[in-house]
Amino acid sequence: MATKKKSAKSAVKTRRVEIKNDITSDAKAQSSTEHTISIAPAKGKLGVMIPGMGAVATTFVAGVEAIRKGLAKPIGSLTQMGTVRLGKRTDGRSPKVTDFVPLAGLDDLVFTGWDIFQDNMYEAASNAGVLDQRLLDQLKPFLSSVKPRAAVFDHNYVKKIDGPNVKKGKNKMDLAEQLRADIRDFRKTSGASRLVTMWCGSTESYIEPTAAHQSVKAFEKALRESDEMIAPSMIYAYASLMEGVPFANGAPNLTVDLPVMLELSRQNNAPICGKDFKTGQTLMKTVLAPAFKARLLGLSGWYSTNILGNRDGEVLDDPGSFKTKEESKLGVLEHILQPALYPDLYGNIFHKVRINYYPPRGDNKEGWDNIDIFGWLGYPMQIKVDFLCRDSILAAPIVLDLVLFVDLAQRCSELQGIGIQEWLSFYFKSPMTAPGLYPEHDLFIQLMKLKNTLRHLKGEELITHLGLEYYD
Ligand SMILES: NC(=O)c1ccc[n+]([C@@H]2O[C@H](COP(=O)([O-])OP(=O)(O)OC[C@H]3O[C@@H](n4cnc5c(N)ncnc54)[C@H](O)[C@@H]3O)[C@@H](O)[C@H]2O)c1
Repeated sequence: MATKKKSAKSAVKTRRVEIKNDITSDAKAQSSTEHTISIAPAKGKLGVMIPGMGAVATTFVAGVEAIRKGLAKPIGSLTQMGTVRLGKRTDGRSPKVTDFVPLAGLDDLVFTGWDIFQDNMYEAASNAGVLDQRLLDQLKPFLSSVKPRAAVFDHNYVKKIDGPNVKKGKNKMDLAEQLRADIRDFRKTSGASRLVTMWCGSTESYIEPTAAHQSVKAFEKALRESDEMIAPSMIYAYASLMEGVPFANGAPNLTVDLPVMLELSRQNNAPICGKDFKTGQTLMKTVLAPAFKARLLGLSGWYSTNILGNRDGEVLDDPGSFKTKEESKLGVLEHILQPALYPDLYGNIFHKVRINYYPPRGDNKEGWDNIDIFGWLGYPMQIKVDFLCRDSILAAPIVLDLVLFVDLAQRCSELQGIGIQEWLSFYFKSPMTAPGLYPEHDLFIQLMKLKNTLRHLKGEELITHLGLEYYD
């Protein structure tokens, strides 16, 4: 049970005083010392800054405006449509997420972005071809007003594209300073009281962390020396965190998944999370694989292929960018199936992921999976999944939820200083975790983690589904 009270500063304060018998040992340990969590109210405007104003970003921003105008509903968004069950199943308490935790309202969102192309959001959304042109025309004045700032870009990191709207600087530190000036300018001109950066830029070439990424000191030296191991997305991340702005990463690039960014994030109370939106094929994979494991069905092979024809597909046609995406997509099965614990079932899996650029499909991706499983006495079976999805339609509600939850995290005493927001794993293909900790990929464990985090913040009992109390 929980009692709530308001602090003198009008922050919402929550006190957890007692946890019932149906809790995990983790929760018990946490609850043994009573503590107070404060969440500052979501007052004023929330500025959303988006590096990469392409298909995902424009579908998100146009969608928010369409919803604000009452033209459409926020389908797929947990923050807008989801509920959280509180207490016992018999209590009948399931408030909407928006009524349970203080999130920014859609009317409070203001936007800016950066891109290597000069198209404003209306032009970029029209080019992306995701949303119906008639809908975009109804939103034209608003979308046209969001113009891209000049980007920090390096063609070596995204080989398939090039554009004119790019900053010049004497070294990478200079570019970071220019981004920091953009951030300050947006804070001032938009009147936003809080900011969030949401990377929706192209997938950068695969790299591994080096000495330059290990500490703020080393990273700043590397910035001044324009070290080639510093990718543009890292410069945005550095600039944001230095300005105390949380950063969420929708692409599989390392970006904030580096010791330097964790250090900055914790120092400046600017939460970080990533990587790579979990939208189509991986969403299905993290639903099906837990089902096989739950029923102890074996897996011998999983062949996943995709065709897509948007700019993201074109970028991923380059082997360097594909490798980054491949790593992100491949990790999932290993962590869910735990072959070391179940060698007879998952000790010998052939897992392949392909992405093929196929222009006729545009943003309408086809994700095709052939899954070879085996059952009782080793008898083989097959499952085919053919997901004719819409990439950016699946991604846009994820962007919205991340923006609102990351902002919540920054206003919350419990979360603002911890760095990585693992409770947001639900939204990512390759969730960031504390160093040395393996990620949870199972979608339903991720959802439970997210909702239990919200319950924890508000001093409500964690739900474990033990349920013995119904049979007392
Ligand atoms: N749509 C999905 O389902 C999905 C799922 C997971 C991840 N993602 C990732 O989200 C990102 C965006 O996807 P999209 O479909 O919108 O791609 P997109 O190609 O339509 O948009 C990306 C935009 O980023 C811009 N860009 C590239 N480098 C930049 C830089 N350094 N600074 C500023 N702008 C830069 C490009 O010019 C382009 O306009 C990609 O990395 C993609 O892999 C998308």
